[in-house]
Amino acid sequence: MGKKKQTKRSKKAQKQPRKLWGTWLRKKTHPAVERLTESISFDRRLYRHDIQGSIAHAATLARVNVITEPEKRKIISGLRSVERDISEGRFQFRIENEDIHTAVELALTRKIGSVAKKLHAGRSRNDQMALDLRLWMRDEIIHIEEQVCLLQERILEHAEQTVDVPTAAFTHLQHAQPIPLAHHLLAYMEMFERDSARLLGCYARVNELPLGSGAVGGTSVPVDREFTARLLGFDSITHNSVDAVSNRDFCMEFLSTLSSLAVHLSPLPAEWTWWASPECGFIELDDAFCTGSSIMPQKKNPDALELIRGKTGRVFGDLFQVLTVMKGLPLSYNRDLQEDKEAIFDAADTIRLSLDALIPLCAKTKFNTQRITAMSERDHMDAASLAEYFVMKNVPFRDAYRIVGELVAKCIDRDIALQDLKLKDFKTACPKVEQDVYDVLGVENCLKRYQGVGSANPRNVRRELNRWRKLFEE
Ligand code: ARG
Repeated sequence: MGKKKQTKRSKKAQKQPRKLWGTWLRKKTHPAVERLTESISFDRRLYRHDIQGSIAHAATLARVNVITEPEKRKIISGLRSVERDISEGRFQFRIENEDIHTAVELALTRKIGSVAKKLHAGRSRNDQMALDLRLWMRDEIIHIEEQVCLLQERILEHAEQTVDVPTAAFTHLQHAQPIPLAHHLLAYMEMFERDSARLLGCYARVNELPLGSGAVGGTSVPVDREFTARLLGFDSITHNSVDAVSNRDFCMEFLSTLSSLAVHLSPLPAEWTWWASPECGFIELDDAFCTGSSIMPQKKNPDALELIRGKTGRVFGDLFQVLTVMKGLPLSYNRDLQEDKEAIFDAADTIRLSLDALIPLCAKTKFNTQRITAMSERDHMDAASLAEYFVMKNVPFRDAYRIVGELVAKCIDRDIALQDLKLKDFKTACPKVEQDVYDVLGVENCLKRYQGVGSANPRNVRRELNRWRKLFEE
């Protein structure tokens, strides 16, 4: 009985193929090889893009009379129905189907019958996968770029409130020079603006149609590639089929762009976890963005910020995954390339999740401006301003540096600020000093004296705030 059943089953299996290949292979795929070679478990998320590409391909086949108009319509409505089945959870993905291209094509065949078998004319899974990845990546880039803009807007809102809040700018984690807090926050705007530009630059290189390259040498089916490109919104078509099926530069560029974005998502958490500490007390994080401790009932931990910082490493890992796959690979398509997907998916998911949390966290964070200002008065941060005052009185900078260093030492001994020194103390150090020395001392004076574009002068900071605001209103 068992034997009979098996024969029945294999006959059935022959009638309903589960793969797109293997007509002449005489043995069933080893289960371990099936598990090793399948990508359906992760490339299933490309189903929308796979179907989007197939719809455009069907339209192209009809345009060049490989299929008729009614066949095209049947294929397209069948594809839309498969898409609905998947998105509404009615679709069963099976490992025997190997990949998303197979799963969709076989589902289409079940739905509309043998017309579906015409769809794969003039293409291979090699150019199809290159297409799916590019379509997926375009959407991801647009989404992530929008998230970066949203984060910038939240930062800008804080900056607009803090032009008149002086703070210490740090170098080596030590008090260095006084600046408006807004100026510090606007530094993040610059970083994220470069990330945004990199994302858009990457988009331009992703936005080329690889379809029509076939498995590697092209196709004798007279596909109209320009037409397909227009349908799918590609700016251009690829110019070498060997390159088109093996090129994963766009994946490497996407991952290196996300890696630098991930790097930029780590100093803000590093800074803000510290700013939220009782020692600093510069900011108050909203409870919704903090977690507690299982043993210390009083704890409020900035775990979200820490994890955003912590997740940076996996994005680098994803970049290295693809770099390593690509290194030393001979042209053109090799199955190794299948290892690109989980890396790009993971990097995009990681960045999106981090931004999903960081954008509202940033909006809800409160700045304790009094405390921030109080800290800016400490540690003789007007010393450089004083040295530059000497320079303007024609004292060579190195001499001025030495004189001010000695004055700072005097202040430290007496536990006073530079502006607390008497005019005669200054005159003893350098006879060229006059009453106007007091105009360069203290935080307010330092800020006013910064010169030119790019500096922390509050007038310049206001100009920058206007520039950013205008940019965002556009
Ligand atoms: N799943 C493959 C990939 O992700 C695409 C299929 C190409 N397969 C093949 N035998 N040429 O790259």
